[in-house]
Amino acid sequence: MAAPTSLSGRTAVITGAGSGIGRALALRLAAHGCPVALCDWDEEGVRDTAAAISGPVLTQKLDVRDRQGQMAFAAEVREWASAPIGLVVNNAGVTTSQTVLDASPEDDEWCFDVNFHGVVHGTRAWLPVLHEQGSGTIANVSSVFGLLAFPTQSAYCASKFAVRGFTEALRHELRGSPVNAVAIHPGGIRTNIVDNARFHVDDQGGTDHAAMSRDFQKLARTSPEKAAETIHRGVEKGKDRILIGPDAAFLSLLTRVAPVRYYDVIDKLSPLIRR
Ligand SMILES: NC(=O)c1ccc[n+]([C@@H]2O[C@H](COP(=O)([O-])OP(=O)(O)OC[C@H]3O[C@@H](n4cnc5c(N)ncnc54)[C@H](O)[C@@H]3O)[C@@H](O)[C@H]2O)c1
Repeated sequence: MAAPTSLSGRTAVITGAGSGIGRALALRLAAHGCPVALCDWDEEGVRDTAAAISGPVLTQKLDVRDRQGQMAFAAEVREWASAPIGLVVNNAGVTTSQTVLDASPEDDEWCFDVNFHGVVHGTRAWLPVLHEQGSGTIANVSSVFGLLAFPTQSAYCASKFAVRGFTEALRHELRGSPVNAVAIHPGGIRTNIVDNARFHVDDQGGTDHAAMSRDFQKLARTSPEKAAETIHRGVEKGKDRILIGPDAAFLSLLTRVAPVRYYDVIDKLSPLIRR
């Protein structure tokens, strides 16, 4: 664990702040006295987030796949921020739902690029800044699907396992340094992630995107606000891994008890959970 630290009064940078977890985290950190620098490729979404914040806020339209754009955003935030950077959250993410056999390669690449390369570009843009100031945390949003794999989520799981591997390697590189890196693993959070998915088929063979979105909203256990609270508290405590929600805690335990056969258990429990 890194040393506990307060984020209040320090600048927080959040990608994908136009919706869901990113928006809730921006509102929460701003309410706790953090100036916030927010970006999203959804310009309207990120402006709406900013409109709900009364403290210092900077917004930028940015596609996280754009490496130069991420560097330029970091330079702009440095100019703007009067307080040191306390936290960078590489949060922007998307999903696609399709089988490996029938996958659209374009949708797989889109998902992997946003989720993994977006995180890598954000980390590379900010790590030198935190290193130079001698403090701060880089929090990269993986998923519970970065701990275990699920049918029809091959590209998403691959991207989130990659985020976890990248972030844990970075954490080990930073041992003994005042800069920290943490991977975040949310379980189901009630956001727009499934609405925004490139949907082909779900794990039950269903091809109705709207029905899958409705199911997800019913099954997702945690609100974005609760997720934001868990991230905020976890970062301040200096946690090495942040799990969000009771489902993430259960599934993380399951991967340790049944590291290869975990899906047998999920498959058995699935009808009960759906009911
Ligand atoms: N909701 C869940 O159940 C859940 C579970 C595990 C992990 N996550 C992860 O949490 C993160 C946030 O997702 P969310 O659930 O809040 O979803 P969301 O769809 O509500 O928000 C994601 C935000 O990212 C933005 N975004 C997407 N692609 C982008 C790009 N290329 N450049 C810039 N911005 C982009 C979207 O415009 C949106 O505002 C994602 O990384 C997601 O994979 C979510």
